[in-house]
Amino acid sequence: MESEFAGKTFDDFLFRPRCGRVSSRREVDLTGRLSRGHSLALPIVSANMDSVTGAPMAKSVALEGGVGIIHRGMSIADQAKEVEAVKRSHGYVVEKPFSLPRTATIREARLFTRKHNITGILIEETPGSSRLAGLLSNRDMPWPEDSEDRRVDEFMTPIDRLVTAPPEVDMAEAERILFERRVEKLPLVDRQRRIRGLITKRDLILTRQRPYSSKDHKGRLLVGAAIGARGDYLERAAALIEAGADVLVIDIAHGHSEVMRSAAEGFRKRFPDAELICGNVGTAEGALFLRDLGVDGIKVGIGPGRGCRTRLETGAGVPQLQAIREVWGAVEDSVSIIADGGVRNDKDIFLAIACGASTVMLGGMLSGTDEAPGHVIVDPATGHKIKLYRGMTSPQAVLEALYEASGNGDVEELLATPPEGQEMQVPYAGSVLDVLRRIRGHLASAVSYAGAATLAEVRARVAREPLRYLIPLSESSRRESYER
Ligand code: XMP
Repeated sequence: MESEFAGKTFDDFLFRPRCGRVSSRREVDLTGRLSRGHSLALPIVSANMDSVTGAPMAKSVALEGGVGIIHRGMSIADQAKEVEAVKRSHGYVVEKPFSLPRTATIREARLFTRKHNITGILIEETPGSSRLAGLLSNRDMPWPEDSEDRRVDEFMTPIDRLVTAPPEVDMAEAERILFERRVEKLPLVDRQRRIRGLITKRDLILTRQRPYSSKDHKGRLLVGAAIGARGDYLERAAALIEAGADVLVIDIAHGHSEVMRSAAEGFRKRFPDAELICGNVGTAEGALFLRDLGVDGIKVGIGPGRGCRTRLETGAGVPQLQAIREVWGAVEDSVSIIADGGVRNDKDIFLAIACGASTVMLGGMLSGTDEAPGHVIVDPATGHKIKLYRGMTSPQAVLEALYEASGNGDVEELLATPPEGQEMQVPYAGSVLDVLRRIRGHLASAVSYAGAATLAEVRARVAREPLRYLIPLSESSRRESYER
């Protein structure tokens, strides 16, 4: 690493503007690599923290072109459900659509649509048979007077009048059928009339409206999930993979450690093909250590996070831009680099990527949004709307983890490490979609100031010779830049 980056982080540099080439910010390509097999049109990853990423956050971030990593502060079954909720939400094919048997009552159907937040139910011949009998859409529902105890098959559109398609139908063909036949839902059935999926007009329109959304090869939203490094972590990984997680993250505070070695080796032995991101590290040696373990992405950041007290409590840490430079210098493009923590302004994301990160993980910046877990509270002292953000090893998070773990051996493990995080209030920030669109706009502008047409082009040039492009700041130029 260049000595100019020793002890330095984002606020220590500005980017030297160059002749702009883009005519519209919307043309700027911001794609970055998340892992071996996945790229993101918006190189943003929402942090696996219990005050940041559950299914609602992961869905919205993936819709905008990034990806969310579901946190692991819950039971294996609950975390797998969160992953399933994301996978089920916006693919253009719902793989396992909800269904009821034809003997179900209208009352049951009404409760079922409300519970699962759906607008139509596939009706099967007998419970669990998967043989399609018909479709009961919201419009088929009778007026709720005296029909509540009547059977759904009196009201459904029966199979002989239903428009269906074979499971292999492609998106263009499905679209044509839906529009020509003027239906909202297209059940997919095989030759034995078994239900194999469902395509809805709403999902197709959403897919068209957001070509940049992060999708897997079946058109479902991408999602990641965190696992630990000990105990039942492989069981957790198996359940999450089964639920459809596209990438798993082994996330421990000190990723350059023997604990990580045995965790990553155990993982690889059992899941040789699964995509695995590991961290955190902040040094060249740490990055090489992880790469040699065969990981698909390295998470970089020791102590820059806003909810983090590691540097204060242990004195260990690496200024974040220095860490990114060290890691890039060691591994270059051989493995993707996820810069994790310390982003306060959108320009920090740009600098992280220009200096070598492939994507950037955000915690605090997304935690005040509607999609983050937790409620909006009005601070009585100021009248401002706030949400709570907390480090995963904050006393509050540790207490909850202890409560979850009571009854199994993890308790002692949890008590052995004193908290290295804290809880704080963050301003309420509205929908995360607006935050992500703002980030996208600022990144596109930054690419334009850098005289390039894509973020990848900026990274390819700057990461090799950053000092040609960056201006180190003095105390007074820092004041001129950031004090407002
Ligand atoms: P930002 O700055 O985006 O950082 O809020 C998010 C990252 O902070 C890390 N993190 C912690 N680090 N103690 C720590 O030392 C903690 O309790 C803690 N909780 C989260 C984590 O890497 C996250 O992605």
